This record gives sequence, structure tokens and C-alpha cells, in this order.
Amino acid sequence: MTPKVSKIGVLCSGGDSPGMNAGIRAVVRTGLYYGLEVFGIMRGYTGMIEDDIFQMDNRSVANIIQRGGTILKTARSAEFMTYEGRKKAYDNLKKRGINGLVILGGDGSFRGAQAFSNDFDIPCIGLPGTIDRDIAGTDFTIGFDTAVNTAVEAIDKIRDTADAHDRLFIIEVMGRDAGYIALHSGISTGAENILIPERKTDIENLVASLQEKERRKKLVNLIIVAEGEKGGAEYIEQVIKERIPGLDTRVCILGHIQRGGAPTCMDRVMASRMGYHAIECLMEGRHNVFVGVLQNRMNYTPLSEAVKKKQRISEEWMKIVRILSS
Ligand code: F6P
Repeated sequence: MTPKVSKIGVLCSGGDSPGMNAGIRAVVRTGLYYGLEVFGIMRGYTGMIEDDIFQMDNRSVANIIQRGGTILKTARSAEFMTYEGRKKAYDNLKKRGINGLVILGGDGSFRGAQAFSNDFDIPCIGLPGTIDRDIAGTDFTIGFDTAVNTAVEAIDKIRDTADAHDRLFIIEVMGRDAGYIALHSGISTGAENILIPERKTDIENLVASLQEKERRKKLVNLIIVAEGEKGGAEYIEQVIKERIPGLDTRVCILGHIQRGGAPTCMDRVMASRMGYHAIECLMEGRHNVFVGVLQNRMNYTPLSEAVKKKQRISEEWMKIVRILSS
């Protein structure tokens, strides 16, 4: 293989996700294996602009595969959204001779990479690092499996106390624009209803279904609401309290615990595999794609497409939820 790059930078951008460290480790070790020089860029695009960049070796990524968060830290950079910001970042790469980038992040981070590669001749390879699993072109995103398992563990515990008191819990999980964490955690904990931003919630329907279950004396104790759902869990509780005053309800917002913790085996393996392929991409001269896995095969989606499309949730999923919670 004739390498198309000789010095590469790796960075994390946007919200962190468990497994990012495993991804960084794979990028660094595969890069070094192929004789590349590898540089860590701290705090995402902010570190690129501020020249917070250091050379990495095999030891830089020792003992991190099991750790949540990211050793490179992460940030959202407004300055990188401007040409002037990107130019500063480019100058910092140029002076070190860095001629390839690997970016771990979600669609916002890919948008930054896309803009950067439009302006300057530096190939960018994305790795889908987000707990939201909302990127089209991959069945997995690094961190989703850990986040959803964290949510499931918490919801199982809530179910115990909900059951003990015959209470209805409305539990809010993460996902600003995406309902995947809600959908998967809701199905796997047997929730009555799952409310997600991809589907407009019919409040009348929700209230009617709760009333009907109340008549049947079916104990209803879990509703899962994605953060991005209008008004979140608190709004849903308010409506239910007004309409069905007899129901004893509580709200629990799981929040950022879903973003931390040791990555699952799935996230570590996916991140390792994707990190390895990111380097293969750079070595082969691919540019401006993100590395995904579709039906267990590597899949490369142009960043320009990735920033336009979202992962969709099919109607069949909602049907499964309705049938199984009856
Ligand atoms: O994109 C991941 C995510 O955790 C979303 O689910 C959530 O809306 C957002 O990040 C919260 O980000 P932060 O609290 O870091 O601003």
C-alpha cells in the first residue's frame, strides 16, 4: 500500500460517548503500525484552532480502552463554523505537516469536517461517535450500546419502586432530535408508551390508552420520553395529572449518566474496528467519508451525504411497541 498520508491528527468533537477512547486507541495504534506519525488534538476543533496538539505514541493510549469519556476531551466550537476559524486550524496543521484527520463525533462534527475539507486539501475521515445513533449509513454508533444499557439498568430499578407503589413513572432519556435510546430502552423494559421526536405524540390517544388500561386494572408503570419530545417528561406528567388525577405519577430524568461509564464490549469492538478502518481509508487515499458498519460490513458514506440524512425510525417499530404493551 502506498500511503497517501504521513502525519495524521485525531480528535473528538461534540458530545462525548463511551467507546471514544477505544476508537482513539485503534486510530493511534493502527496509524503507528503503518508508520504514520499520529497527533492528538485536544478539545476538538477548539484545540485545532488554539494549537493544542501533541504527538502520540503507543503508550499514549495504554489503559484507556475500558474508560468512558475521552482522553482528548471534546468541545463544540462556534469559531470553527467560520472560515477564519478553520483557516487558523489549517495553519496549525500545516506547520506540523499533518495531512490527514480522523474525527470522532456526531453529525455536527461531520458538518465541521465537511466545511473544513471544502476549504482545504486535508482528507477527513469521520467515526460515528454519538450515543444518539441518529446517523444514516451505519447500524452502530460508538456509545449507543453503552448509553442504552445504562438507561435500561436505571429503568429496571425504577420499575421495582414503581411496582411497589402502583405508580406511573415518566422517564426521560437522552436524544435531542432522536428517539433511538427511548425506543430501545423502552422496548427492553416493557414500557407502556414510548414518546419520540420522530413521531408526533397524540396526547388524546395517550390519555385514552392509559384510561383504558386503568379500567382493565392493568398496572401501567413506565412511559419513556425522549428528551427531544416537546416539553419532555415534565410536560407529559402535567397533562396526565390534569386528565387522570387518580394516577400517582412521578418523573425521573436520567440525564448525563447515559453519556458516561465503561463502554460495553459492543462499543469497544465497534470503535476498534472502525478506528482501524479509518486509517485504512486514509492509507488508500479515501477522503471525506465516515466509516460505518451496515449489515456487518464496513460502509463508507460521504460526509456531504451524512450531514443531510438522519437515521429514520420505521412505523413497524411503533407497531411492535403498541402490540407488546397491550
Ligand atoms: O448528542 C448526544 C447528546 O447526549 C444528546 O442526546 C443530548 O441532547 C445532548 O448530547 C446534550 O448535550 P450537552 O448536555 O453536552 O450539551
